[in-house]
Amino acid sequence: MSGPLPLSLLPATARVDGAGRLSIGGVDLLDLAADVGTPVFVYDEADLRARCREAVSAWPGGVHYASKAFLCTAMAALINEEGMGIDVATGGELHVALSAGIPPERIVVHGNNKSEAELARALEVGVGRVVVDSFDEIDRLAKLDATGPVLLRVTPGVEAHTHEYVMTGQEDSKFGFSIASGAAAEAVDRLAALNVDLVGVHAHIGSQIFLLHSFEKEIEALAGFVEALTIEELNVGGGLGVAYVEGETAPTITEWAATVRDGCVAAGIDPAVRLTAEPGRSIAATAGITLYTVGTIKPLPGIRTYVSVDGGMSDNPRPVLYGSGYETFLPRATTADRPLAATLVGKHCESGDLLVRDASLPGDVAVGDVLATPVTGAYGHSMASNYNKVPRPPVVFVADGNARAVVRRETLDDLLRLDQ
Ligand code: LLP
Repeated sequence: MSGPLPLSLLPATARVDGAGRLSIGGVDLLDLAADVGTPVFVYDEADLRARCREAVSAWPGGVHYASKAFLCTAMAALINEEGMGIDVATGGELHVALSAGIPPERIVVHGNNKSEAELARALEVGVGRVVVDSFDEIDRLAKLDATGPVLLRVTPGVEAHTHEYVMTGQEDSKFGFSIASGAAAEAVDRLAALNVDLVGVHAHIGSQIFLLHSFEKEIEALAGFVEALTIEELNVGGGLGVAYVEGETAPTITEWAATVRDGCVAAGIDPAVRLTAEPGRSIAATAGITLYTVGTIKPLPGIRTYVSVDGGMSDNPRPVLYGSGYETFLPRATTADRPLAATLVGKHCESGDLLVRDASLPGDVAVGDVLATPVTGAYGHSMASNYNKVPRPPVVFVADGNARAVVRRETLDDLLRLDQ
């Protein structure tokens, strides 16, 4: 017997009416599903804005949204309106950010393998920071006769407690320059021969990190290197975790920033060094929720019950990639107990197409029900694919009783548009 969904996993403006129906941003989710169809990503705009505001006040030195978590024109515009800059990791993300009207000086350009074309574009528009990641990139910057401010990405040699695929601070990493091996110091020397301006150091130890202690260790590991340079900025990356399932709790953005600040004081880092950060997940994850429709329920006696929905690993590959957990519930009965143990699967042609391995659902779940998975706002839409030629879902922002489609649903013809 499993109890109801913990309401703390829902976005800020979630409300449950007397009958148990869920609305977000004043929009009834069942009505919305009937209007726009499923699957659909729904974002609580007030929740997104509140997270941005918290980040802006927690990081007075400057904060950039990691756009890989979720990016479209409307999201970029919202980030800009709320006073955050944006971190892009590819020429594609840069293109969307620029097209959305983000001032170039508020863009930080990442990437462990930036092409010459990507670097040239970033330099041409005058981005705020290029985060230098390799000696080959330094060669390319030299060839392009680059000018402007750069950060040096270093690996502090810290292993954050998270999934191996999203750990980045350890020595064995494709990102950045190792401090321990001397590569970071050599990169500083090589950059000095260029016309760029090395204004700071960057490190990112991983993603979905619950233990603030990992960030303290990051600062301790960086302190000596930072102090030996004359720099104005220390960017600690992103990585703050969020709660996805019952029983998880995550620190707030404010607590994260305070830990980093205190860590810098304790490590003796010059208080004049500006602390900056790049949260992605902690801005976008909880604001987003995915709505599906149940199409098939297959009870296999003595084995398990499969509940199949009209999406799957193409709109949320995280369970398959990282074994990530999610909750499931019915927005028509948001506060109902969920005694039915089931496995939530998608419509793709493989048995690995799992959305929730050990899902809990109300016993009366039926074909045609709208089913929701909360906390899908980060790394869901942005990692979606067209596997099995399934059109990608639309994205709808809800606020003040209004729903506005910010990304339309792909059509069947969209699936042909690149074919020649
Ligand atoms: N800065 C850099 C340099 C990064 O590589 C990342 C994430 C971030 C900031 C933002 O980290 P966040 O605050 O979102 O944790 N697809 C994976 C997550 C990959 C994260 C990659 N880098 C997932 O779905 O869990």
